[in-house]
Amino acid sequence: KSEIVILGIETSCDETSAAVLVNGTDLRSHIISSQIVTHQRYGGVVPEIASREHSLHIQPVVQEALDSAKVSFSDLSAIAVTYGPGLVGSLLVGVSGAKAMAYAAGIPLIGINHLEGHIYANFLHNPDLEFPFLALLVSGGHTHLIFFEAHGQYQVLGHTRDDAAGEALDKVARTLGLGYPGGPQIQKVALDGDAQAFKFPRAMLEKDSLDFSFSGMKSAVLNTLNSARMRGETLNVPDLAASFQQAVVDVLVWKALRAIDQTGAKTLVLAGGVAANSLLRETLNKELSERSVRFVYPPPLFCTDNGAMIAITGYYHYLAGDFSPWTLNAVPGLGL
Ligand code: KG4
Ligand code: ZN
Repeated sequence: KSEIVILGIETSCDETSAAVLVNGTDLRSHIISSQIVTHQRYGGVVPEIASREHSLHIQPVVQEALDSAKVSFSDLSAIAVTYGPGLVGSLLVGVSGAKAMAYAAGIPLIGINHLEGHIYANFLHNPDLEFPFLALLVSGGHTHLIFFEAHGQYQVLGHTRDDAAGEALDKVARTLGLGYPGGPQIQKVALDGDAQAFKFPRAMLEKDSLDFSFSGMKSAVLNTLNSARMRGETLNVPDLAASFQQAVVDVLVWKALRAIDQTGAKTLVLAGGVAANSLLRETLNKELSERSVRFVYPPPLFCTDNGAMIAITGYYHYLAGDFSPWTLNAVPGLGL
């Protein structure tokens, strides 16, 4: 085969997604079937419902991805699939589906770490991205600072000790009655709020630490709300949203800058669902241009869960000859 054609499949949480990527740069198709509306009425993802929805959607989503890319299984070089971390029932649908399809087509299977996928999403629009770089991964389940030396070679410099940034945004949004998923709602409502209205703490931890802690910051919002309620006062929701968003962004930016100082990195790569946040992007953009550090981030659609990021990670694994055995299993707690 002269072309390397990768089908990427993502089912780790509440998006069933498939994409066809040719030669690592040409995204021929990208289908995302989101379950947000299904889970909204419960205020968060219900794992059992998520896996059932994936079972219903995986086959049509894959078929649509193949059809719109005008390829069939016999044109594929390999199938890449997320095998962790994530919800076990959701991961299993993707892993078993991908295994069956790859086995039937007689092509290699490539298991992908979802976290690596988020970071590699950056190669889709920046194929010239050069190592080494520092990556700030901020999603619903993870907050990591990682130093990448080469493909597949990296070192975790810091991570959250409790809640992930996205998780804290989601929980605060739920308490403020803003619905799920919370991050985009906080961003929207914050536009009408004053970010200086409430002084929420910024958890910086020990001197030189690159770890994060968002649980205390989240509790500060809940305590502020509760004590206002006891006094019979109602607080301004946009002000609360704007002030909390500002606190989270301040910590993320401050830690990223500290990591740049410590490593001397010349490039910062932003990734994960929270990377779609415009305040975070704008603040990093300003701070990094002042320091002449290159700032790379994916378009919003490629920040949240998607199959294209799995396809591009699969492409680099394919080049390295890094394939998975047919015994590949879902690993819900997979780390970096
Ligand atoms: O990466 P992702 O789609 O799923 C995980 O792997 O966790 O990230 C989802 C997280 C959620 O917490 C969601 O609230 C947050 O990303 N998020 C945002 C925005 N868009 C999504 N947070 C802040 N601002 C946004 N615009
Ligand atoms: Zn994700």
